[in-house]
Formats: sequence, structure tokens, C-alpha cells
Amino acid sequence: MGKILTIADLKKQAERRVPKMFFDYADSGAWTESTYRANEEDFARIKLRQRVMVDMTDRSLATEMVGQKVSMPVALSPTGMTGMQHADGEMLAAKAAEEFGVPFTLSTMSICSIEDVASVTSKPFWFQLYVMKDRDFVNNLIDRAKAAGCSALVLTLDLQVLGQRHKDLRNGLSAPPKFTPKHIWQMATRPKWCLDMLRTKRRSFGNIVGHAKNVSDLSSLSSWTAEQFDPRLSWKDIEWIKQRWGGKLILKGILDEEDARASLDTGADAIIVSNHGGRQLDGAHSSVAMLPKIVDAVGDRVEVHMDGGIRSGQDVLKAVALGAKGTYIGRPFLYGLGADGKQGVTTALEIIRKEMDISMALCGKRLITDVDRSILA
Ligand SMILES: Cc1cc2nc3c(=O)[nH]c(=O)nc-3n(C[C@H](O)[C@H](O)[C@H](O)COP(=O)(O)O)c2cc1C
Repeated sequence: MGKILTIADLKKQAERRVPKMFFDYADSGAWTESTYRANEEDFARIKLRQRVMVDMTDRSLATEMVGQKVSMPVALSPTGMTGMQHADGEMLAAKAAEEFGVPFTLSTMSICSIEDVASVTSKPFWFQLYVMKDRDFVNNLIDRAKAAGCSALVLTLDLQVLGQRHKDLRNGLSAPPKFTPKHIWQMATRPKWCLDMLRTKRRSFGNIVGHAKNVSDLSSLSSWTAEQFDPRLSWKDIEWIKQRWGGKLILKGILDEEDARASLDTGADAIIVSNHGGRQLDGAHSSVAMLPKIVDAVGDRVEVHMDGGIRSGQDVLKAVALGAKGTYIGRPFLYGLGADGKQGVTTALEIIRKEMDISMALCGKRLITDVDRSILA
């Protein structure tokens, strides 16, 4: 492998290092994957205005997301089973994010637990909540996130039922992995991954095992979500969650203007325009296509963030130009993690920072906080 210069380079490297079932888990969308592809393709269609003869010294990408300082407007998305891309993946990614000065969001469906991540970080991270039918368990998760000092709760709204991802079903995805000949082969051909995995004890869902009652089949994500996730979740539920949590609240998974307007009554601090990385409703619009409409619908009554399809710093710049106060990356950091552990996550963040900084300058702006729709052609 030559020099790593792009997120696509990290993806290639991850494919060589991560067993197929887990690489595919990251690189997949629901059904035909049309929304997964649209997230990236629609970014590529947006054009920037090249400006010249502007003073480009003293540039800064620093800004704030939900009132917290960030070195650039890019957080790490909550992603399930991150500890299967690389041993202790959530702990490594959280450390990389902390050193970089951007938020790390831990998924409910992580391998390393809230307490594991808290034990290796010194600044607060964010916690993403899935609401289960078992409310005692949910209350307990919220309390654990509070006790760990998490500084924002990201409530995911777009996964009451699980979208079907064909690759996962064909691969027989589970955590810990099964030991059929096919799975053994997929792992045996990735010896470095196996060695690292043998050195850790974290190989199943750390936030859940030992905390939830009556967990019958946790290893299969699809059967567990079908059994445990609450399909009745409604706008009304946000009230008790907000009250129990008592801190910054971010609503994740809004893709419709009507839902965006409805979210204003909840008192949330931010919403994330998102289609779950194209993993839920295949055939829905891309996030970046819906972003300006949602920004127009809510005005400045709530902070608008977005995720889905960001593969470069230019993409972040375009999202900010369209009104996003912050963005999130899912696959880009997962590919970095699979490619090279903590260093790979840092590399992903560095690639994005450099691209964003140079592109911003060539658009004639010095501060990310000054970027608006005027930089778009
Ligand atoms: C492998 C994987 C696992 C994910 N797991 C979760 C999760 O547990 N909770 C959640 O809210 N979103 C989850 N997502 C969605 C991400 O938070 C985010 O919305 C999406 O990845 C952004 O798109 P991008 O990957 O194109 O950057 C997951 C995404 C991926 C790729």
C-alpha cells in the first residue's frame, strides 16, 4: 500500500485488515444501497466558488457544537460494533478524537462499554441512546452515561425497526463471531486482527451484557433489535428522556421538514439531519439534499447538524455552507480504525482537516464560522 492520502485509501487498507463480515457491516446500506450511494454522490454534485486575491493568513476551523468547543465541526458518529473493526476500537477512537479536539459519540451497541471508554479518556465524550422496551434498562443507561461525565446525549430516532442489509444476512454477522468454517476462514486470513482480538476481553456488547435482563440472543444484532428496541417510541417520550438526562440533548435521524418542525417543541439542543448512513430507509433522499430544506424549516430555533456521505473536508465545507453547524463521520473513521487502529482514526481526521482548510482558503474564507451559502457556485 502506497501513501495514505484519502479516505478511500484508508478504506482499501481496512478491507485488507478487517475480516469480511465486519468490513461489510461498515460498508453497507439497506436493500439496493441507493440512499447509501446518494449520500456521497449528492455531495459531489455541489460546486464551490473559486475566489482569488483574498488574504488567507490566520485561518481557523475552530467552532462550537452544542456550546462545546471543537477544533473543527466534525464529530465521530455513533457506530455499533466498532470494537469489531479493531480490538478495543471504541477506546482507541475516543482517544484519537480527544487528542484531536473533536467529539466522540459512543453507541449503545458498542463493544467497549461506557465505563471502558471513560477509563481511557480525560475529556467528556457523547453517548448515543437507543430506546429499548425495558425502561429500567434505558434509565440505567442514561444514569451510567451521566456518571461517566458524558456531555451530550444523542437520541437516535430512525431505528425503531432495523433496515435490512443483505450483506449482514449473507455473512451471518454476529458479535462475538461464530466459528463456522466460513467465519474461521474470514478471520484466519486477517492474522493481525486476530492477534489483537485475542489480547482483549471485549468481544461482545459491553453496554448490555451483564446489565440487561432476559437477553436471549444478543449476538445477532437483527434478532436482538427486533426483540428489544421499542417500536412505539414517540415524540412524547423525549420529555422523560430529557428530564432523566438533564444535559445537552441531540436528536439524530431527522430527514423531513415536518419532523424537523416537530422537533422544535421538544426543547432539544440540536438535530442531526441523517438517514443513518443509508442503512435504514433505502430510497430516501440523501442527507445533504435535505439539509438546506431543513435548515430553512427550522431557522435558528435549533442547531442543525448533519451526517451521511462525508468523505472529505470539502464535503464538510459544503455541509457547513448549507447551514450545518456541525457534521459527523461514520465510515471514514471506521475505515481508519480498521486500517491502523488509533493512528488510522487520527489519519482520517487529519485528511479531512487538511482538505477542509485548503478548500476554505481557496473559496476566499479564513474562518469556518464565516462560511455560508455564498461559497457555493
Ligand atoms: C457500521 C455502522 C454502525 C452504525 N451504528 C449506529 C448506531 O449504533 N447508532 C446510531 O445512532 N447510528 C449508527 N450508525 C449510523 C451513523 O451514526 C451515521 O449516521 C452514519 O454512519 C453517517 O454516515 P457515513 O458513514 O456516511 O459518515 C452506524 C453506521 C455504521 C456505518
